[in-house]
Amino acid sequence: MLTRVVAVDAAEPDVQVLRLAGAVIRDGGLVAFPTETVYGLGADAMNANAVEAIYAAKGRPADNPVIVHVADRDMVGAVASTWPARAKVLAEAFWPGPLTIVCLRQDRVPDVVTAGGPTVAVRMPCHAVALGLVTAAGTPVAAPSANASGRLSPTRAAHVLKQLDGRIDMVLDGGAALGGLESTVVDLSGGFVRLLRPGLITSEMLRTALGEEILGATDDPGPARSPGLMTRHYAPDTRLVVVRSVDDAVDRLRSGGVRAAVVAHCEAPADVEPGSWFALPSDPCGYAARLYDTLHRLDDMGLECVLVIEPPQNQAWDAVRDRLMRARAEG
Ligand code: TXA
Ligand code: MG
Repeated sequence: MLTRVVAVDAAEPDVQVLRLAGAVIRDGGLVAFPTETVYGLGADAMNANAVEAIYAAKGRPADNPVIVHVADRDMVGAVASTWPARAKVLAEAFWPGPLTIVCLRQDRVPDVVTAGGPTVAVRMPCHAVALGLVTAAGTPVAAPSANASGRLSPTRAAHVLKQLDGRIDMVLDGGAALGGLESTVVDLSGGFVRLLRPGLITSEMLRTALGEEILGATDDPGPARSPGLMTRHYAPDTRLVVVRSVDDAVDRLRSGGVRAAVVAHCEAPADVEPGSWFALPSDPCGYAARLYDTLHRLDDMGLECVLVIEPPQNQAWDAVRDRLMRARAEG
């Protein structure tokens, strides 16, 4: 299959391009597109064959359900059978935006979308291309991140092509996805609020909006129910090791024999070779925006090891820390 790459303005996407991509989705095809978090791989959420093609292209296990992207409240009603008061509050506070809400599904949503489960994950992305594509398709769009299963999510069209060229119909190239980390996933399908995946919308932000405690993924009641919580996930090709401190990183870098580089939230010490130190911003949002892009670049350099200095132990860094812990081979 030839994968068509079409450039599109992230802020004001060309209507003709959106129509073309929307028609590909309506015809059962696969279109990768930018969102405010990472690039997604979209298909018509109401077409089981089309969604199955996503799983085939990614090599995704059938037991891992996908997120449905909507452009308006009517589309929410097409996939969700209930929309609890808490969902209204959170959608009001954070949509469009990087928050995915899990609630009970409509029967007509194909089983492949929900991995056969009783719930569906829904999100309204805050990106003109994503919203424009869903609107042009005229149907809710199922879209996991546009990477091969288990690998690093893409934040640029080039990252999508590295893993999926020839396996999907189209990529809308709208430049870098600015958030850089996948959405926060919150489960409202029981009588409680459970954070299934941390993201840039933090547990504290959810607590403030709802005025109640937020359960963690592994807290009672009930078992954790998001396969995305599988421990190894979001992994670059290069061995990723999480180290405690700048000194640890420098020691490992110097211990020799291994071509390595450091990813840090601070500048390099004066005596470290600049080409082996990648200083990301020291604030969590700035760091998140650059992390995957940096790891993709390091993968392209053919190193043997990437040493990532562990970020601070506070909630603002939860999403970053979560992804690093799943991406690491050691540390
Ligand atoms: O930012 C994002 O969320 C991106 C963009 C493209 O929207 N999408 C994304 O999708 O990261 P994916 O498939 O890579 O991650 C979706 C996560 C997985 O951890 C999956 O297990 C969980 O959401 N999920 C999907 N449906 C679910 C459901 N019904 N119940 C519980 N977890 C669900
Ligand atoms: Mg993913």
